Amino acid sequence: MADRIPVNDLISIEHVGDIALICIDNPPVNATGQAVRQGLQDAIQQLNDQDSAKVIAIYAAGRTFVAGADIREFGKPSQPPALPDVYNIIEDSDIPVIAVMHGTALGGGLELGLAAHARVGIEGLRVGLPEINLGLLPGAGGTQRVPRLSGIQMALDMSLSGRMVGAKEALEKGLIDRLTNGEPRDVALAAAQDVIDGKLAVRPTCSLETPNDDKALDDTAAMLKAKQAHLFSPHKIVEAIRASYLPRTEGLKIERQAFIDSMQTPQRAGMIHAFFGERAVSNIPEAKGDTRPLDKIGVIGGGTMGSGIATSCLLAGIPVRLIEVAQDGLDRGVATITKNLEGAVSRGKLKADKKDAALAMLQPSLDMNDLADVDLVIEAVFESMDVKKDIFGRLDTICKPGAILASNTSYLNVDDIAACTNRPQDVLGLHFFSPAHVMRLLEIVQAAKTAPDALATGFALAKKLGKVGVLAQVCDGFIGNRILAHYLKTASYLVLDGASPQQVDDALEAFGFAMGPHKVGDLAGMDIGWANRKRMASLRDPAERYGGDIADRICENGWFGRKTGQGYYIYGQGAPVPNPEVATIIDAVRAEKGITPQQFSDQDIVDRYMTAMIAEATRVVEDGTAKRPLDVDMVFLFGYGFPRHRGGPLHYADTIGAKELVRRITEYAKEDSHYWQVPALLEKMAADGSTFADLNK
Ligand code: CAA
Repeated sequence: MADRIPVNDLISIEHVGDIALICIDNPPVNATGQAVRQGLQDAIQQLNDQDSAKVIAIYAAGRTFVAGADIREFGKPSQPPALPDVYNIIEDSDIPVIAVMHGTALGGGLELGLAAHARVGIEGLRVGLPEINLGLLPGAGGTQRVPRLSGIQMALDMSLSGRMVGAKEALEKGLIDRLTNGEPRDVALAAAQDVIDGKLAVRPTCSLETPNDDKALDDTAAMLKAKQAHLFSPHKIVEAIRASYLPRTEGLKIERQAFIDSMQTPQRAGMIHAFFGERAVSNIPEAKGDTRPLDKIGVIGGGTMGSGIATSCLLAGIPVRLIEVAQDGLDRGVATITKNLEGAVSRGKLKADKKDAALAMLQPSLDMNDLADVDLVIEAVFESMDVKKDIFGRLDTICKPGAILASNTSYLNVDDIAACTNRPQDVLGLHFFSPAHVMRLLEIVQAAKTAPDALATGFALAKKLGKVGVLAQVCDGFIGNRILAHYLKTASYLVLDGASPQQVDDALEAFGFAMGPHKVGDLAGMDIGWANRKRMASLRDPAERYGGDIADRICENGWFGRKTGQGYYIYGQGAPVPNPEVATIIDAVRAEKGITPQQFSDQDIVDRYMTAMIAEATRVVEDGTAKRPLDVDMVFLFGYGFPRHRGGPLHYADTIGAKELVRRITEYAKEDSHYWQVPALLEKMAADGSTFADLNK
């Protein structure tokens, strides 16, 4: 191997005959931070100045080609050279430049490839423009060069979905010119030789013209206006792609401005908080260290939750023993799992030919003794402490020593469950969210005596299942459901006092939630909340205002939401419509309680709802139920449909500021001083000017 000449710490050049290899070596993902940009620019300029090679091949060391711009630099003053300028220098290089890509070439990484004069992919390569997930758009020529190579439709699809495109599709769509096998350096050398030998064609991407597809642009712009009016960057993406009809300089100028504008929005800050938060939740001592095996898992209960959990394990390649008490329940469980797996095939999460193999890993049984050899049992039966205590007592005698016994309880005290075994060190909560094979959140509930390796195994399971594991301590409802129970009261008070369920839903959907709380209630089944209100009835503080009358009355009619055809809304063909009977119930309840309905603006609804959520979330951080504010944020992003561009309740709280939140709570407390109380932590933050972000450090 010829000597590598360092251009700087991260970029080196190696001359092999007439070929110059440029290697990018910036672990872990070769992001294009300032030093990479500078090094690439210097390398290309040096090679052109010296005219010392016939072909330049750029490749990367380590597990992946460039995964994009360095996200850690976003929000800070930008340091030259700018990425689009470096890529123009590459495209304008007199010496042909090829890019050899392996692993994941994403965002600025793919854009580096697009600026080269030809692209070679190594088997397993996935490319993508995921900037939309960060509230951004491709900012280094992606919106200009993808349309020229693959058409406007493909550019819109990639940059609006952020999806990863496999190597085969990338080849078919002209994003890469060749797909091959081998080590990046060897492939780079061979491909560069092919350029010299005339076997691999090279040309600057911007020498091509974007084929006209105004229809795709117009249709997409209209669709986004209707469906994503509240988001910033998707509209800018269409605008920038439309500019790819223009010459390079003009098109790139429009893309650049759109990128800078997106960078300055709070949406970008929220989404980047989500990106790092997703990784930070498991970057804690409790998730590290020794773990126990996870080779075989038992699931007790074949209902919606148990079947979803079993499906999730099967999709991750873990054999499952499914236990039910009666044959019909077991058959229903197996049928649900089969349907779930079929759904996974149609969503592209499972290859069609792998479905039978996944199903073959399922062993249904009516005998709990069949759990004797599993490594982990997840109990997912209905929420009754007596039933759970009985099950855990039996598991204690059946399961092998060291097996982990987990409850999927949504609310109940895991310490009490653990106390019915002689091995409380092996017991923890694993709280999945429905549908469990789709929703990414897993609350990992640490009971008082849970052993460190059992807890770390909970995080290992989350990783295997592709879920976001968040540590929670024992309390009623843990992190998510505890906060939910609190702020849903606000929704019920708003309706009691004058808003309609639809107005509340509409206001929160405009804020960014996929569905308002009444639509969610209808979807989940109103009977669940009803059962919970009954469970809590004896524990209710008499000083607390009860907001459940309307929902109770709806449930007494047997209207539980979608599954019964009506709840707050009526479900039939087309979009759900507000249930007129509910309006009658609301009027009756208000009259009985002597409430004169008042007007709420949509902003008032959002402010009250969000302030209630933030207040309880603050208390959850304050008393240690959640480790940090970011853990609460990830629970809401991955389990409760919280709008990603808002970053989570406590990231959003920082955008309002503690002082304003305290002011609001104090104001609302004039109406109801029992419900609206300023958390001590928020009071302190308002006084000393600190933020939730400070507590994440
Ligand atoms: N910048 C800075 N750090 C990054 C990064 C980036 N673009 N991508 C990943 N990282 C960091 C992660 O934070 C993580 O750090 P820690 O180990 O400290 O937690 C580390 O690299 C490894 O990342 P993952 O844990 O995510 O590793 P993975 O193997 O599971 O996934 C990946 C690898 C698919 C590349 C994934 O990290 C990913 O999707 N990264 C983001 C890609 C992206 O969004 N690129 C576009 C950036 S914006 C852009 O490029 C704008 C433009 O047009 C110029």
